[in-house]
Amino acid sequence: TIVSGKNIINKARQNSYAIGAFNTNNLEWTEAILRVAQAQQAPTIIAASMGAVKYMGGFKTVVDLIHDLHDDLNITVPIAIHLDHGDFEAAKAAIAAGFTSVMFDGSSLPIDENLAKTQEIVNLAHAKGISVEAEVGSIGGEEDGIIGGGEIAPIPDAVAMVNTGIDFLAAGIGNIHGPYPDNWKGLHLDHLKNITLAVNEAIGHEMPIVLHGGSGIPDDQIKTAISMGVSKVNVNSEAQLAFHEALREFILADHDLEGKNYDPRKLLATGVKGIESALTERIDVFGNANKA
Ligand code: G3H
Ligand code: ZN
Repeated sequence: TIVSGKNIINKARQNSYAIGAFNTNNLEWTEAILRVAQAQQAPTIIAASMGAVKYMGGFKTVVDLIHDLHDDLNITVPIAIHLDHGDFEAAKAAIAAGFTSVMFDGSSLPIDENLAKTQEIVNLAHAKGISVEAEVGSIGGEEDGIIGGGEIAPIPDAVAMVNTGIDFLAAGIGNIHGPYPDNWKGLHLDHLKNITLAVNEAIGHEMPIVLHGGSGIPDDQIKTAISMGVSKVNVNSEAQLAFHEALREFILADHDLEGKNYDPRKLLATGVKGIESALTERIDVFGNANKA
């Protein structure tokens, strides 16, 4: 079932688990995410970055592909179609094209502009039942051309942001896109706690928090973050690394072409197995198996 993001995230927030938001890149990737979600009975968010939307053909292709695979594969678990780190134009295009959830990432803008643009996106999205994520502070590292300095989210910014009416909040708490460096100090969990206390008080109910840069954070830190209010964990690099490793092993082991291993369907199938095992393991850590 294709649903709005808030539909599954609020339930996760109330029951202290997190929904995996997994980035897709193509047909096979999307199928892999859907199959894992169904097998684990895990409500899941399929996320497409602006780069992935462009790569896959456009907003409509992404929406139609997910709907069509969802129908053809008989997917019954709740699935949301989410724009990841969208700019203002991309968020509007995703809303028009039928995404069921959008992230407007104004974290590189001055906070007043970030707030004003987020408010506009909230108004447009909520009129259609689409959920909105926004970001304060920033996520370190780089993802698909989105570069952040890793600024820790100031609490007044977080409070002002939730007052726009967003459905979930991404906050910089020392998290980084891509692999974590050896000297990484870990998530700022005390700060996360302070943010959740402040934003919950501001809105009078529990605000789901989004943890970006989900690849490579030790499981115990992820679990603690979930217990403190994280209800959506974004994972991209981990699936890419698993895809790469599985495909690489397969190709390197293949010294003759008699088995027709040059068939693209066979090649990609090996990588897809890598994605599926990586995501299955994540769902287990997030506690969202059997929550459909
Ligand atoms: O928005 C997507 C992510 O935050 C993914 O980060 O590539 O470090 O898992 P990651
Ligand atoms: Zn991210």
